[in-house]
Amino acid sequence: MQTEASFKLAVLVSGRGSNLQAIIDSIERGELNAGISLVLSSKPDAPALDRAKNYGIPTHVLESKSFSGKGEFDRALVAELRSRKVDLICLAGFMRILSREVVAAFPGRIINIHPSLLPAFPGLNSQKQALDYGVKFAGCTIHFVDESVDCGPIILQAVVPVYDNDSPETLSARILEQEHRLYPRAIRLIQENQLTRDGRRVLQNPTSVGKTA
Ligand code: GAR
Repeated sequence: MQTEASFKLAVLVSGRGSNLQAIIDSIERGELNAGISLVLSSKPDAPALDRAKNYGIPTHVLESKSFSGKGEFDRALVAELRSRKVDLICLAGFMRILSREVVAAFPGRIINIHPSLLPAFPGLNSQKQALDYGVKFAGCTIHFVDESVDCGPIILQAVVPVYDNDSPETLSARILEQEHRLYPRAIRLIQENQLTRDGRRVLQNPTSVGKTA
């Protein structure tokens, strides 16, 4: 794994790390011209940390219980990310809400993946929320992070069907396949400077549209 690439990523995780793996795989295949300078976890036992270590990627754990409050945690988070001089911060199952201060420290440089077609079903257990609501299509969203939760401008979305016999697990698995496809593509669009903003709308340079859908 290239940790000294010119476009440096930090990937923030709390658990399994399958999206982290999708980003690593994309870099390893040469589809994404970037390196991961840091995998930062809010949980010391997150399996995602082992995935990072397998590729020699630097890791760091910030556990909220080691800090006296959210302000102190957030300052440590900003300091760690700044020290790595990262170009883009990718939240990949990071189960903490970023404060206004963290978002302001990296304007337009934090993105998140969420397992629903936002603005539907923000928050936790989105796949179960979708099933309980009775929607016929679900999906995932990659969006810029702003100070509100699961609400920033949308970069990419992918849609999957919901079947009558779906459980939260089967629907999650179908959505996850699309998450793994989408996340590296969203990073590439940013790395290649292919996006512009028009209010809430994130527009792709016309030459990149067919390549990333
Ligand atoms: C993914 O499904 C991601 O969309 C979701 O957590 C899972 C992490 O899986 N994120 C959220 O729900 C954020 N609100 P992973 O650790 O295998 O990448």
